[in-house]
Amino acid sequence: MHNTLCDVYGIDAPIFAFSHSPAVVLAVTQAGGFGVLGAAGMEPEQLDQALQMLTRACRGKSFGIDLIIPEQYVGREEGGLSLEKLQSLIPQGHRDFLDGLLDDYHVPRQHASLSLASRAGTGISEKRGKELVDIALAYPVKLIVNALGVPPAYIIERAHQQGVLVGALVGAVKHAVHQKEAGVDLIIAQGFEAGGHTGEIASMVLTPQVVDAVAPIPVLTAGGVASGRQMAAALALGAQGVWTGSVWLMTEEAETHPVVKEKFLRATSSDTLRSRASTGKPARQLRSAWTDAWEDLANPRPLPMPLHSLLTMDAQQSIQQDALQGGEGGKKLINYFVGQSVGMFDQIRPAAAVYQEMKEECETTLKRIGQLANG
Ligand SMILES: Cc1cc2nc3c(=O)[nH]c(=O)nc-3n(C[C@H](O)[C@H](O)[C@H](O)COP(=O)(O)O)c2cc1C
Repeated sequence: MHNTLCDVYGIDAPIFAFSHSPAVVLAVTQAGGFGVLGAAGMEPEQLDQALQMLTRACRGKSFGIDLIIPEQYVGREEGGLSLEKLQSLIPQGHRDFLDGLLDDYHVPRQHASLSLASRAGTGISEKRGKELVDIALAYPVKLIVNALGVPPAYIIERAHQQGVLVGALVGAVKHAVHQKEAGVDLIIAQGFEAGGHTGEIASMVLTPQVVDAVAPIPVLTAGGVASGRQMAAALALGAQGVWTGSVWLMTEEAETHPVVKEKFLRATSSDTLRSRASTGKPARQLRSAWTDAWEDLANPRPLPMPLHSLLTMDAQQSIQQDALQGGEGGKKLINYFVGQSVGMFDQIRPAAAVYQEMKEECETTLKRIGQLANG
């Protein structure tokens, strides 16, 4: 199981765990894997607090952070627009449609805090990304990853000056080549099956092509990996490890909404779709009345990033609250990002147990396949 990536990242098995929950990142890191904290959407103070906790509790073990600084979003050319300007770009027809949707499902209104609004509207700007990176570099972070595009040169330079590695998620070979040219140290080839923003090519097809295109840069397979057998398949495709997201949503440590956890337990692999319904960019998520409404061509189309998150944040907050209080409307509408592996989830377990089982099953699988090769 031990390979070069394990030496570079100080881990027992090349399992990278992406999570927005600091407790998951901690549990996986302590168990011997590499935890990566999803920092997109965090306030600088929130990230600072989480990194303080992780630094203290991980006791010398390293971990990473993940950002979303897209190559394309409304206001990128201007370096990010103000919240007021972004608000003014949202058409009234979209606001009316959302109001009607919540009325139809009898969801009482909540208003998102100003801080949530600022995160929804300006949380993906390059300016915010720089702020978060400056904070992260004051801690023993080993890896900074960016999604939805090449990380800004500033981030690559600042990280490299401090010996911190830089990774990037890609969904197509040409994107992987751009990342290599920009000087990225780790490529995460994310297939169609994955939860969250994802492209159109399945992991089985994407991984070997990306491995060949960016060699000798190490590649991780992301998308559809929730077990040791799937991890072994990724290694067989030429990846040096796996980058996992959905599987951690079903751990005891995860801050997943309880109604979402229940829905995931019941869902099959056919119950997700790739839709612009949640952020404005195509992202795999659980199908619900929310995605049905946004997919219906009779309704307004989702807005580009970050206008869609800004438009929907009050509604999302209202839906989550209603679902928590047992409201039928909220329960029908609520959804979350998750990959096709959702069909494999039948219990909620400690993150360390998930890590251990994935590692052991991968080892057993590799031995079984090794025996085949030896006749
Ligand atoms: C709930 C959720 C939120 C995600 N948010 C991000 C994110 O903020 N940044 C990012 O780079 N990837 C994000 N992703 C994608 C993961 O990093 C990872 O690539 C993906 O989950 C791998 O596929 P899997 O879900 O099949 O394990 C998210 C995935 C999920 C399920």
